[in-house]
Amino acid sequence: MQGRFVTVEGTEGVGKSTNIAVIKEWLNERSIPFVATREPGGTPLAESLRELLLANRDESVDATAELLMVFAARAQHLNTLIKPHLDAGTWVLSDRFTDATYAYQGCGRGLDLALISQLEVLVQKTLRPDITVYLDVDVKVGLARAAARGELDRFEKEDVDFFERVRKGYLARVSQDPERYLVVNAGQELPAVKRDLLAALDCAFPQT
Ligand SMILES: Nc1ncnc2c1ncn2[C@@H]1O[C@H](COP(=O)(O)OP(=O)(O)O)[C@@H](O)[C@H]1O
Ligand SMILES: [Mg+2]
Repeated sequence: MQGRFVTVEGTEGVGKSTNIAVIKEWLNERSIPFVATREPGGTPLAESLRELLLANRDESVDATAELLMVFAARAQHLNTLIKPHLDAGTWVLSDRFTDATYAYQGCGRGLDLALISQLEVLVQKTLRPDITVYLDVDVKVGLARAAARGELDRFEKEDVDFFERVRKGYLARVSQDPERYLVVNAGQELPAVKRDLLAALDCAFPQT
């Protein structure tokens, strides 16, 4: 049996890493074999591309160049790590995936969503996440949490308007395909976020 492909999305500091730990616990309790990974990244080559993407630099980065690097990393990640694991029956839990490209490069940078969709088909064919946990919070709350973490990367340095567009982009994706998303209000205290996330997982995977 194919493994399930679960992705976690949201703007900076929303609590993706924190809640991925909760999902790992949930999987371990059920003895479900899984790998946890992230985008951009997940393989040595894709992690090198991640470094290039996140680095602060003096020259401005062309949005199309950024988009192509994101999908180059994704092609490598998908074909050498994600697919082989899913085919072997292992679940894959990824901190971000293509929803982030629609939200950041599409709605944040203003690139054509139809173009992103073409690249999605080129790179992924028909492969899409089975379930996406979307953590939603006021962008200022998330940015404050991210800032408290230390040095900011090239994305974290964007202004509030950029992240407002990114959040809108995520919410638009959710409303287009509500069945795939588990939307969790990440503006609550951590125990309440955890409770809602666990309830949503139990609902999404009743057999496990
Ligand atoms: N619901 C929450 N309430 C308060 N602080 C939170 C909450 N969720 C996460 N945090 C804190 O905010 C910071 C960013 O969380 P993190 O999981 O690293 O976010 P992300 O991976 O989405 O950038 C961390 O210090 C984390 O402990
Ligand atoms: Mg994180």
